[in-house]
Order: sequence, then structure tokens, then C-alpha cells
Amino acid sequence: MQTVLVTGGAGFIGSHTVVELAEAGYRPVIIDNFSNSKYSVIEALQKLLRQTVTYYEQDYQDTDKLRSVIAKEQVDSIVHFAAFKSVGESVKKPLQYYSNNVSGLVELFRFLDSVSIKNFVFSSSCTVYGEPDKLPVIESSPMKPATSPYGRTKQMGEIIVEDATRVSPALRSVSLRYFNPIGAHPSALIGELPIGTPNNLVPFLTQTAAGWHKELIVHGDDYPTPDGSAIRDYIHVVDLAKAHVKAIEYLKNKKARFYNEINVGTGEGHSVLDVIHTFENVTGIQVPYKIGPRREGDLVSTYASTNNANAILDWRAEKTLDDALEDAWRWQQTLHQ
Ligand code: WQD
Repeated sequence: MQTVLVTGGAGFIGSHTVVELAEAGYRPVIIDNFSNSKYSVIEALQKLLRQTVTYYEQDYQDTDKLRSVIAKEQVDSIVHFAAFKSVGESVKKPLQYYSNNVSGLVELFRFLDSVSIKNFVFSSSCTVYGEPDKLPVIESSPMKPATSPYGRTKQMGEIIVEDATRVSPALRSVSLRYFNPIGAHPSALIGELPIGTPNNLVPFLTQTAAGWHKELIVHGDDYPTPDGSAIRDYIHVVDLAKAHVKAIEYLKNKKARFYNEINVGTGEGHSVLDVIHTFENVTGIQVPYKIGPRREGDLVSTYASTNNANAILDWRAEKTLDDALEDAWRWQQTLHQ
């Protein structure tokens, strides 16, 4: 059974990827320092998978410990999620973001050539494109200046992964550019665990529906879009997780020093008001909201071209916005303020 090391594997996308790896016949091993996740996720994973899940509570940057884990667990692939991911927080604490997301990645790659890793999947983001000139966004679209230190760490991260892979004796790597991950596992055993008040739309929406907030503020309805609110490509986190399994399969057939970047989205755009109204239709719950000013740094509209993901990863999103919002709500109802 092939072992895959999942850094940040107790996080939102990481934990869902652990499930899909296990269900695809891999043995996932989690590295997580629990700075942005909870130990209860490990228990939930073991309950969901009905098996012990091997994990190590440590920082991915501690390469001495990482060496012994890789040797002991006989790891040959890594899916690297461990990173700080809040746009707003990155503006306030840029050096923490550059240290954890960029310097840590450099140290990781300095170390990788001395161990047996062959396949590396990097957690990237559509944020690397900035405001796209053309839609849907294709992978060869130019990287515009990112609008936050977080976005810059993802742009730099992709460059580091590519440059290091191109001179590595054995490594093959792919950067997966996620659009907007939402939803939760249908079991409602794992899902998104925002720390503090969420900035992202769907967790704030489900918390408002649960009565945790008085109302949702729609950040602008004067955009040049059909209903005036901003458009995004919302992808179910389970579909996104499955794309990581496909990415490992894809890399296994490549020669050393191979590198690529692939969008992972649904290929469909939905506005903020679409999401709110879809949630209300799916759950029957009216969500109190009001229109507020645009949010600094927000894009007008973005959604993915999924031609590469479909053709070369042999992957496509199967779940709908309805599915994602239904699963997000089921998960929200298990949480306490
Ligand atoms: C979506 C839309 C908001 C909250 C971010 C990161 C990106 C990626 C995905 C990591 C926007 C609007 C939101 C609210 C609102 N993360 N909104 N009221 O900004 O597209 O992307 O998450 O890779 O890097 O930037 O996601 O969910 O914050 O916002 O109207 O209370 O919902 O203005 O139009 P975003 P989001």
C-alpha cells in the first residue's frame, strides 16, 4: 500500500483529502501542528474511515523529525497543505506568512532530495491569477500582481516548487490551483472549522443561518455582473479532495523533473446572491442579509477553465452548489458557538 504524507492533514481540505486517499487505497499519514485545526478532526477521521489514522503533531518545517517520519512510514508522495491561508490576516502579519508559506517551503525542498519522495502535490490557489482579463481562467493566464501577501506566497510557492522540481533527481510535482472550496463531507463528521469569525462567504452564511450572527453583509451589489454581486467558482471540498488523488496518479506516470499547474474548479460561476438564494432553497431557511460596500481587494468575477483537469487529471467536479450548501448546513448543525 503506498503511503502519502499529508502536511496540514487535519485542516479543512487536508482532512477531506485524507478520506479520499484512504478510500482510494492509499495509506495517508498526517503531519499537522494543529495551529489551525483541532485534534477532534483525527478522531472524526478514524470514525469516518473505521481505521486508525497515523498522525504526527509537529511542524512540517522540522525536517529532522520529518526525515524520521518519512523513513519510518516509507513515504513516496507528499500532498502539501500546511500553510497559513487567511487573506485578511496576511495583510496584518505578512512576515508570518512569508516565513511559514515561503521560507518553510524552501527548507522543505532543500530536504526532499535527500529522502525518497517522488511525487509532490502543492496546494495553490486561483488567487495567483489576480483579476482575470478573460473568463474562464486558463492555466496559461498571466499571474497579475496578487492583492495580498497570502496571494504572493502562493505565487512564490508555485515558482519555488517548479524551480526546485526542475533540478531534482527524482521529483515530479504539480500545483493545484483551487477556486473556492466549500461544503463538508456528507457524513457531517468533518468540515470547515473557521477559527474566529470567518471571512469566507459560506461559513459565515451557515453561521448566520444558525443564528450565530444577526445578518450577512453582501459585499457589494454594484459589480458589472447579472445581479450586481461578485461571482466565484464554488467547488465542493470532496470533489477538490478527489482531485488530489488523481494528481498523485497523474504524477506517477511522469519522468523526474516534471512540473505542471492545473486549475481545480467546477468551471461554473455563481454570484453571492445566487449562493444565498440557493442556500435558502436547499434548506428552507431564510438568511437575514443586507447589502454593504464592496470589500477591498475583491475580484469582480472568476471561474475556472477545467479542460486540463478533465483531460489530463481525468477528473471533473461531480457535486453541485446545492450539494455543497446542503452538506455545509448539515455540518454547521453539528457545531456549537
Ligand atoms: C467570496 C465572495 C466576497 C463574505 C478567498 C481567498 C482565496 C481562496 C478562497 C484560498 C466575495 C463575498 C464574503 C461575506 C460576502 N482561499 N462575501 N460577504 O475572497 O473569493 O477567496 O477564499 O486559497 O485565496 O481570497 O472568498 O468566500 O471570502 O468571498 O459578500 O460575509 O463572497 O465579497 O465576493 P474569496 P470569500
